[in-house]
Amino acid sequence: MTFQTVGVVGIGQMGSGIAEAFARAGCQVVAREINDDLLERGKAYLQRSFARGVERGKLPQAEADAALGRISFTTQLTDFAHCDLVIEAATENMALKKTLFTELDVICKPEALLASNTSSLSITEIASATQRPDRVVGLHFFNPVPVMPLIEIVRGLLTSDETLDAVRALGQVLNKQLVFAKDNPGFIVNLLLVPYLFDAIRALENGVATKEDIDTGIKLGLNHPMGPLTLLDFVGLDTCLFIGDAMYGEFKDARYAAPPLLRRMVTAGLLGRKSGRGFYTY
Ligand SMILES: NC(=O)c1ccc[n+]([C@@H]2O[C@H](COP(=O)([O-])OP(=O)(O)OC[C@H]3O[C@@H](n4cnc5c(N)ncnc54)[C@H](O)[C@@H]3O)[C@@H](O)[C@H]2O)c1
Repeated sequence: MTFQTVGVVGIGQMGSGIAEAFARAGCQVVAREINDDLLERGKAYLQRSFARGVERGKLPQAEADAALGRISFTTQLTDFAHCDLVIEAATENMALKKTLFTELDVICKPEALLASNTSSLSITEIASATQRPDRVVGLHFFNPVPVMPLIEIVRGLLTSDETLDAVRALGQVLNKQLVFAKDNPGFIVNLLLVPYLFDAIRALENGVATKEDIDTGIKLGLNHPMGPLTLLDFVGLDTCLFIGDAMYGEFKDARYAAPPLLRRMVTAGLLGRKSGRGFYTY
């Protein structure tokens, strides 16, 4: 199976990066948002990211223009009817994702694959909202998608061998390394990452050190590219809270319980980079 036309549901932080990666790989991309304002915001994310690639000498201007030209923007899910693969990158909420998958199942051609970029939710449960659970798979990209070299492929209980074989091709198409995980909350990366991030917030709550020193300690002491509180701001505090709540809901393990400070910050609209303020101000 080839992926000539790829649909992306939601062009927020992750969806815009996914759209860019496929467009740069030569695929036609249909990018969908829920209303015109968000569509304009998503377009602006994409234009900025392409411009950055050009400025940094990673992408010739003509290639950036051609890739952007391969993305069509819409607010209609029905525009996914001819897609070979649709990747959902909407908010981390099971009810929302299931509603979207039920709609996509009706709209998309029968042979199309449906994928979710979920960080923590069950692919098997998302697939249960469709009549094609064998053609539903998790494709977990990392932020920023055009730069990060990994995709976690998540197999639901009913995902078929054919679907798994088809998505294996994405390694070459997108020039990314693939790892495979079963449908376990948090898969590989977030299973290990979430307790670490939450421990950093607990350290801050408990007055162990300032946010700057927690980040500097980890960055220089462990040779990480960024400290945990900077990473939380980068991922989005709302997304981290949704992920923690989903994982705690499944495991009932205190390591995944969201620290009160995280919940308070999300309630206050301090979502990190995307809202201009989180642990740091941007
Ligand atoms: N932020 C990360 O680092 C990261 C990494 C990997 C995976 N993810 C996952 O990717 C998904 C999106 O995360 P994000 O960081 O891009 O979030 P975001 O807040 O930047 O974007 C969320 C998107 O969902 C859309 N949306 C909201 N309500 C909707 C609805 N009712 N119907 C359709 N679309 C709707 C929004 O318009 C927006 O495009 C989540 O499942 C998240 O867990 C995030």
